[in-house]
Amino acid sequence: MEEKKQPIIEIQDAVVTFKRNHSSITAVDHVSLTIGQGETYGIIGYSGAGKSTLIRLINHLQVPTSGKVFVNGQALEDLDQRQFQRARKKIGMIFQHFNLMNSRTVLNNVEFPLLGEKITKSERKEKALALLRLVELEELADAFPSQLSGGQKQRVAIARSLANNPDILVSDEATSALDPKTTLSILKLLQRLNQQLGLTIVLITHEIQVIQTICHRVAIMEAGKIIEAGKVAEVFRNPQEQLTREFIDTSINVQEALNRIQRNSNQQQLYLLKFVGETTNQAVVTEMAQKFAVAATILFANIDQFDNLTVGVMILALDGSRVEAGVEYLRQQSVEVEIIKKKVGA
Ligand SMILES: Nc1ncnc2c1ncn2[C@@H]1O[C@H](COP(=O)(O)OP(=O)(O)OP(=O)(O)O)[C@@H](O)[C@H]1O
Ligand SMILES: [Mg+2]
Repeated sequence: MEEKKQPIIEIQDAVVTFKRNHSSITAVDHVSLTIGQGETYGIIGYSGAGKSTLIRLINHLQVPTSGKVFVNGQALEDLDQRQFQRARKKIGMIFQHFNLMNSRTVLNNVEFPLLGEKITKSERKEKALALLRLVELEELADAFPSQLSGGQKQRVAIARSLANNPDILVSDEATSALDPKTTLSILKLLQRLNQQLGLTIVLITHEIQVIQTICHRVAIMEAGKIIEAGKVAEVFRNPQEQLTREFIDTSINVQEALNRIQRNSNQQQLYLLKFVGETTNQAVVTEMAQKFAVAATILFANIDQFDNLTVGVMILALDGSRVEAGVEYLRQQSVEVEIIKKKVGA
């Protein structure tokens, strides 16, 4: 995964402003972004950050007010009508609400993007069935969308988005309407398509779990700007911005655990430990406890795996006369230690 990937999407200093009554709003504010061929790239931000507008630049649904957008080396404004149509077909798109046609069968929905193509009816059917097989939904070819679960509908939408053999699949909150288990199955499907077809995937989300499950790189977006970007593991290892930390903390449920623990223990000195790397954190804590005769109680632990990196969080209660030296020792072992709550009277 270390090899340099050919850029397939290049956004150069793009700005999108919308006029609203007498004022104007900048939805995308000087964004530059390069996405490599075959990458799974995540864009995360809260509502209104400008994610959908940014993604619409990529599939040419939105013209930048200024700046340039290159897809496959081509800028939108350099394409004539026919080239533009062809370029658009090479970008598939899926949405939160699936956008299926309810009066058509699953098969007909998938066939739909192929209706204008110069292929026979049976070739078209063949192709659609192959796509349904790819998303493991062949047996539902004759069903109607209303008869499907949300996860099945999204599979149909994914099959349809692949009808024209796109190079890029753009996903705008495609799992936001699904429960966690279904979300995971859709993400695994996207991951398989990325690996099997070499499909470049750009997905936007407000859930860090989505990023952490399948993305290689991530950009964090706030108020139209990309405030931080990088490899997922590196951003998790060393987040620079407050918003990034917030997203990561929700992913490992730190805040929730802290609230719960603080409600239930009002006399304790608590320590929040963050580990990143190959070391197993438990061992370091045990070592410290023995070395400094510190009583360490683990109140919460959560360990996540990104690529080859372990990111762990622990909340500890530490007690003993040499706690400070113990904490210092942990810090020397590259563990980030934050003191959460002082003992009353300390
Ligand atoms: N066509 C439009 N006309 C006017 N304003 C728009 C238009 N599209 C988006 N905006 C504004 O641009 C800003 C960014 O919107 P955008 O939809 O890109 O955000 P988002 O990050 O996708 O949010 P969400 O997570 O809610 O989907 C918002 O303030 C929005 O109101
Ligand atoms: Mg949006």
